[in-house]
Amino acid sequence: MLNALVYLTGISGKQKLIKLSVLCTRERSERALNGYVMSKRGRFGKYGEIKRISRLRKARTGPYYTPGVGRKAIRGAAFQNEKQHVRPQITIRAAEESDVEFVHSLSKKAFFQYGPYEDMLERWFQSGTTKTLLALMEKRPVGFAMLGRHQSEWESRQIAEILAIAVEPAKQKKGIGDSLIREVVRKARELRIETVVLYTGLENVAAQRLFKKHGFTPSKIKKSFYPRGQDALLMYNHIESQSDFMI
Ligand SMILES: CC(C)(COP(=O)(O)OP(=O)(O)OC[C@H]1O[C@@H](n2cnc3c(N)ncnc32)[C@H](O)[C@@H]1OP(=O)(O)O)[C@@H](O)C(=O)NCCC(=O)NCCS
Repeated sequence: MLNALVYLTGISGKQKLIKLSVLCTRERSERALNGYVMSKRGRFGKYGEIKRISRLRKARTGPYYTPGVGRKAIRGAAFQNEKQHVRPQITIRAAEESDVEFVHSLSKKAFFQYGPYEDMLERWFQSGTTKTLLALMEKRPVGFAMLGRHQSEWESRQIAEILAIAVEPAKQKKGIGDSLIREVVRKARELRIETVVLYTGLENVAAQRLFKKHGFTPSKIKKSFYPRGQDALLMYNHIESQSDFMI
């Protein structure tokens, strides 16, 4: 091109145009001979089209291509996968007499290391002095929590005790324990309870974290509290002093 401009100096406008076009054509032919011609429509022309088609072909046979699936559809599929990871809905309801078998069998699984609690909890369940809440997932029972009147050391207060809370091992860590505790505390408020207490294994870190998350404070250690000899930690929660937003 530079050669062309030097050559053009000193000739008329119309001549300049003719000469320029001849030179450009010559330059293109030279490039073609050297093997790198591009059409005058550049990368949007025929050559660009060929390149684009070959890129598409490569992409469609590559490892991430799913036949018949466009970009929009792929995005849609990712959203579907996200939806599959959304937790199934947890429902909490008051336990009925017919739920006694579930409470018995889950207690056996959840508390066997502490003692024969399945029989004790069944008796408490049927005593009429406790309130048991059941957690359901996809209409199947997956956990329960039992609330009972506490033989109070603090006579002047309305106290209730969470006698047990358990979630099916396969359904743990899905927020069921959270939902049960939240509902138990709501129930206790409804019953005008001022303080909720509970005992949990001193080594039961998972349960202690759950209770602390819902406002329970460690109080004292009860030595050899359980039938099999383990120590327990007493925790309490003065619920009447909290606003609903805390749990
Ligand atoms: C304790 C128990 C009821 C928790 O139920 P869960 O449905 O698994 O609990 P969630 O998924 O709702 O988790 C709620 C909170 O508990 C705590 N938690 C639950 N499992 C935990 C674990 N394995 N390790 C540490 N913290 C844990 C966490 O603080 C968690 O909140 P986060 O997820 O925001 O951290 C359940 O593990 C269980 O049934 N254990 C056997 C019975 C038992 O020990 N009962 C308590 C004594 S009565």
